[in-house]
Amino acid sequence: QGTSQGFAHAKAILFGEHAVVYGSPAVAVPLHGLGVQADIRRSPHQETRIESQLFSGTAQTAPEPMGPVVAGLNAALKAVGDPDAEVELLIRSAIPHSRGLGSSAAVATSVARAVANLHSTAFDEETLHEIVQAAETVAHGRPSGIDAWAVAKPAPIRFQTGCAQTIDVGQRLVFVLADSGHHGSTAEAVGGVRARRDADPTRIGGMIDRLAALTDAAVDDIRSGDRATIGARMIEAHGLLGEIGVSTPTLDSLVDAATAAGARGAKLTGGGLGGCVLALADDDDSAEELAEALRKAGAPRTWTTEVRPT
Ligand code: MEV
Repeated sequence: QGTSQGFAHAKAILFGEHAVVYGSPAVAVPLHGLGVQADIRRSPHQETRIESQLFSGTAQTAPEPMGPVVAGLNAALKAVGDPDAEVELLIRSAIPHSRGLGSSAAVATSVARAVANLHSTAFDEETLHEIVQAAETVAHGRPSGIDAWAVAKPAPIRFQTGCAQTIDVGQRLVFVLADSGHHGSTAEAVGGVRARRDADPTRIGGMIDRLAALTDAAVDDIRSGDRATIGARMIEAHGLLGEIGVSTPTLDSLVDAATAAGARGAKLTGGGLGGCVLALADDDDSAEELAEALRKAGAPRTWTTEVRPT
């Protein structure tokens, strides 16, 4: 019996996190250098076994953090018409979890693709999205769905109310991603924003509207390749994310360190309250300097990634 594989990459949100939960647009970029691979084969035993960095054992005894993986696996097996299959699943992920990089969606996507390959088929985009959303709902409560699209698409996307479109990129963009070293909980961050919006709908609602306007303007900048303007909008977006309560002193100081080291712009990315900062560099050389400055400022690790012109 052969082994089948599935892959997916991490993502970073460039604009619109949190606002996207209220129907505003958001932009995400793929992180091709950070990925997850799932290997699957039919189990010779009467049970499904999962092996990953987090847990090794039978699906039945998997602890709560494995819930999204089990949900994704079950949804994928159901979608190929093989709901009772017993499988052995090996997950190898280079994506740090709880850092706003879409690791849960990427794991579910790699598992779903592996299941499809096991059945010598491939899921269409919509089916894959539904499977991954089933896993994401277990992971995050009521996710907007942006992560599930972003980890499956090879190019930057504009996402709004369930729909993702690829953005035509006008000029190469080089980003440095810096880990704050702190876990962020998307569910907690999203819940906090909701509570603050309920308490003060005019003020917080206004900020969400401004984040939406920044996102739409940035989509035009990405198309035309206007790096300086994209960077300025990132800085404004970070300020607004701070005001809606999802930044931290560590994230703020990494953003300051990035701009002091010559970044065009920088902001937190993803849910916040920990996680990562995304900074826009001018070119490969300045990205290297930026990465060094961010590590000096306390980031335990950095990654460099690019978005290529279409
Ligand atoms: C998480 O990557 C982005 C958030 O907007 C949550 C969501 O869209 O579900 C914070």
